[in-house]
Amino acid sequence: MRRNIKKILVLMMAVMLVFAMTACGSKDEGTDASGDADQESAQKIGVSMPTQSLQRWNQDGSNMKEQLEAAGYEVDLQFAGDNDIPTQVSQIENMMSAGCSVLVIAPINAEALSDVLADAKGKGIQVISYDRLIMNTDAVSYYATFDNWQVGTMQGQYIADTLDLENTDGPYNIELFTGSPDDNNINFFFGGALEVLQPYIDSGKLVIKSGQTEKAQCATQDWSTEVAQKRMENLITSQNYGPDKTKLDAVLSNNDSIAQGVANALISVAGYKAGSEDFPIITGQDCDKASMKNMLAGTQAMSVFKDTRTLAAQVVTMVDAILKGGEPTINDSETYDNNNGIIPSYLCEPVVVTLDNYKEMLIDSGYYTEADLATE
Ligand code: BGC
Repeated sequence: MRRNIKKILVLMMAVMLVFAMTACGSKDEGTDASGDADQESAQKIGVSMPTQSLQRWNQDGSNMKEQLEAAGYEVDLQFAGDNDIPTQVSQIENMMSAGCSVLVIAPINAEALSDVLADAKGKGIQVISYDRLIMNTDAVSYYATFDNWQVGTMQGQYIADTLDLENTDGPYNIELFTGSPDDNNINFFFGGALEVLQPYIDSGKLVIKSGQTEKAQCATQDWSTEVAQKRMENLITSQNYGPDKTKLDAVLSNNDSIAQGVANALISVAGYKAGSEDFPIITGQDCDKASMKNMLAGTQAMSVFKDTRTLAAQVVTMVDAILKGGEPTINDSETYDNNNGIIPSYLCEPVVVTLDNYKEMLIDSGYYTEADLATE
């Protein structure tokens, strides 16, 4: 009898061992899934991007793929249609069943991934939050992004400097635009810009004639150019903005896709002429090709350059740390709380780009070719 029990136990242990050895991608937290140097096939990394309709995410996706592959990983890169949340969730599920060991995710909606990421955590698959923080989950190991607060202060400071708010009385008319309400980054972009602009708003040097000052009133669903254009058209009509009417001095726009919509409305509805002296100052972010062309045409004043190659390189160090046990470079461990604790982060440096330095920043650095920015 005792010998039989012993036999059964040995058999059970053998079965458990085989199971543990073949269970692809399922590992206990903190242990190495299959990061051994002698493994046979490359480990698979899932990269989930929010949309293909905005230039930057295409670039992020291809940079990530290229750099992860160069580091020896296999990459499953997916774009969630045009910001389609259910598509993003099912793509992440597919990545998990395809055996991805790490997921790199730029969420469409910061709060919509808790369930699918609970599954990931249960399977021992670790998650890196990419550019935008994924909220309300304990499944995120690292966050790689840019200094998002600084992006906002750069935009605000550009307006303050260009209008010379310190030394002139104004008053100057301004309207405010931020991004998608479901993107955690807008708290930083909008907050950073207002940190600079609020004192001038309070003192009356900057006037927001529409009275639309709250983040929710200034938000642009999905960072859509069309949504921004429509809101700007309504503001032009309701506030009577135009070159020969009420002067609009500046529009704070938290990114390029919004800046493009704002510029379209100022030209087509308010009658501002591209490149004219009185064209309102419009800020942006991303250095999208379309916005750089607008800058060259005089319909956008600045953009904030976020070199997605640098961001991808940081993500590779994080993936390596998770799978090979190294230490990732982290430079911030206090700013980004996803409602479940602080996420160790690496914040890349954003840079202000204007007509004065775009050649050096974008062309000399190999980000774009001259032809990419040709205007005709
Ligand atoms: C990114 C910006 C981008 C925006 C719209 C934000 O989360 O940080 O770079 O312009 O999303 O896609």
